[in-house]
Amino acid sequence: MDDQSWARTPIEPQSVNAPLSTAAIFLVVTIAPAEAAALHVREVISDIGGLVRAVGFRDLKGHLSCNVGIGSDAWARFAQKETPAQLRPFFEIAGPAHTAVSTPGDLLFHIRAERQDMCFDLERLILEKLGDSVIVVDETQGFRYFDSRDLLGFVDGTENPTGHGMLDSSLIGDEDPTFSGGSYVVVQKYLHDLAAWGTLTIEQQQAIIGRTKADNVELDQDPAERKSHKSLNTITDANGVEHDILRDNMPFGRPGAGEFGTYFIGYARELWVITQMLRNMFMGDPFGDYDRILDFSRAVTGTTFFVPSNDVLEALAP
Ligand code: HEM
Repeated sequence: MDDQSWARTPIEPQSVNAPLSTAAIFLVVTIAPAEAAALHVREVISDIGGLVRAVGFRDLKGHLSCNVGIGSDAWARFAQKETPAQLRPFFEIAGPAHTAVSTPGDLLFHIRAERQDMCFDLERLILEKLGDSVIVVDETQGFRYFDSRDLLGFVDGTENPTGHGMLDSSLIGDEDPTFSGGSYVVVQKYLHDLAAWGTLTIEQQQAIIGRTKADNVELDQDPAERKSHKSLNTITDANGVEHDILRDNMPFGRPGAGEFGTYFIGYARELWVITQMLRNMFMGDPFGDYDRILDFSRAVTGTTFFVPSNDVLEALAP
């Protein structure tokens, strides 16, 4: 398999590999039942680049970007001749103590910028264009929290792949030529119980995450009794090859409503890698030894999308 195949073709990915931003909006919608709604959606998303340019050009230093993800039901409704090889719905994972729920979503708009107002305005324009063709399921505004910490207080994103590793682990290559330059993306919205988390000692928290809290250094080894979050999410196949994903998690919250959360978003070349991570976290590895981050973080959504290359997205125009 030629891992860099997408790089030598004219295929242009969406902004999957945009750097971590200071602001983001995660917008998930379903498409209204009428056939006309699906056609209208195809028209709008195939021309999303025009909207991004309209807002983004007003401040180029804002680095506005937007990735459009399409769920498996919506893909079927768009009646395309071919389907991305690994596209399927998010299947619920019911573990011994916690469940990764599966929730509806036909489209994901992952909007990123250095300015919250740019994210806001792009979301406003997208929804205006889509009109009553869609129903908003979830809208989450994420923000960077100090040195990229989550609301549990740990630096989040450190072990993301970089350079070629980032492209190789997030973008489909020659293995699925029609969809090369595309990416599978899984989103989950987690709500934290910060009061309960705060009752743990720093050492207990560090053992759960697998890194030190203040200076973000990886722990040499997990405590004997249980694997850490870091270890449960290190995926190695039968040949000893490690498989990565690209994460762009963001904190969100409304202190007045007692809401504190992490919006998990993972891009992958191979969907099974994220599925395996979720199985390890929720079922446990070995079975029963689930990720203790889940005792303090409840997944309230879970949806899978396919983020096609710009070429495939533009070709959706009816
Ligand atoms: C409550 C939600 C979550 C929080 C607060 C969280 C937080 C963190 C933190 C603090 C780290 C260590 C620093 C880093 O490398 O980024 C980490 C690592 C990681 N997390 Fe999560 N995470 C969450 C959910 C998930 C989920 C659902 C997945 C996968 C399905 C995942 C996959 C990973 C991976 C792959 C790593 C890197 C492991 C390594 O190679 O060291 N995380 N996470």
